[in-house]
Amino acid sequence: MKILLIGAAGKLGAAVHQTLAARGHQIVTVGRTSGDLRHDIADPAGTAALYEAAGPVDAVVSAAGDTPFKPLAQMAPGDYEAAFRGKVLSQVELVRQGLDHVAEGGSFTLISGVLADEPIVAGSAASLANGAVEAYVRAAAIEIAPRRVNAVSPTIFTESVADYGPYFPGMEPVDLARVVQAYVRSVEGAQTGQVYSVR
Ligand SMILES: NC(=O)c1ccc[n+]([C@@H]2O[C@H](COP(=O)([O-])OP(=O)(O)OC[C@H]3O[C@@H](n4cnc5c(N)ncnc54)[C@H](OP(=O)(O)O)[C@@H]3O)[C@@H](O)[C@H]2O)c1
Repeated sequence: MKILLIGAAGKLGAAVHQTLAARGHQIVTVGRTSGDLRHDIADPAGTAALYEAAGPVDAVVSAAGDTPFKPLAQMAPGDYEAAFRGKVLSQVELVRQGLDHVAEGGSFTLISGVLADEPIVAGSAASLANGAVEAYVRAAAIEIAPRRVNAVSPTIFTESVADYGPYFPGMEPVDLARVVQAYVRSVEGAQTGQVYSVR
């Protein structure tokens, strides 16, 4: 399959890239500062140009989406707007604007995360964004057939514990090798409207 991979240079994206390429797929990488194509998904005005540049694809895979982390009392309206633009609208627009570019039976795989279900201190914007992504996936799935859409919802990666571990006390991390299997399942399987929880 020809797969458009957003966030390909990140921790998650690099692992997804390696696994999908090893399974024989052709990967077109996207990032703001690196990749075959440069695009900021938080600017949906550029998404049409991204799809034009990529040409027809069999799958769109997202491993990008930023949200601010701050104690709730310090959150400003702009922080929640940034979370919405960075992780929700960005991925929603990948689906909406990608419908005509993804093959019939092809798929979109979005990224959410454990904070949709298991809140942590300073994570309210991320919880809000992840929950919205998951609700959108369930809603979009009933309208975009024969195309498919799923989300991958991992807990903190083992590989990220050095960076974020103190924010996730007592929460068991998961190896990226397990997280990428949910991407394989979404891309190569037949399910739609699923949230693959990797915990
Ligand atoms: N790390 C964890 O433990 C963990 C756990 C659960 C869920 N997640 C979720 O997984 C996703 C990836 O996390 P990560 O730790 O792999 O992040 P990361 O290492 O910071 O990588 C993010 C990648 O996405 C690209 N990117 C970021 N914003 C973008 C945008 N607006 N448009 C296009 N590309 C963008 C970045 O490259 P450029 O800067 O060049 O654009 C980078 O390659 C995030 O949504 C995160 O919330 C992470």
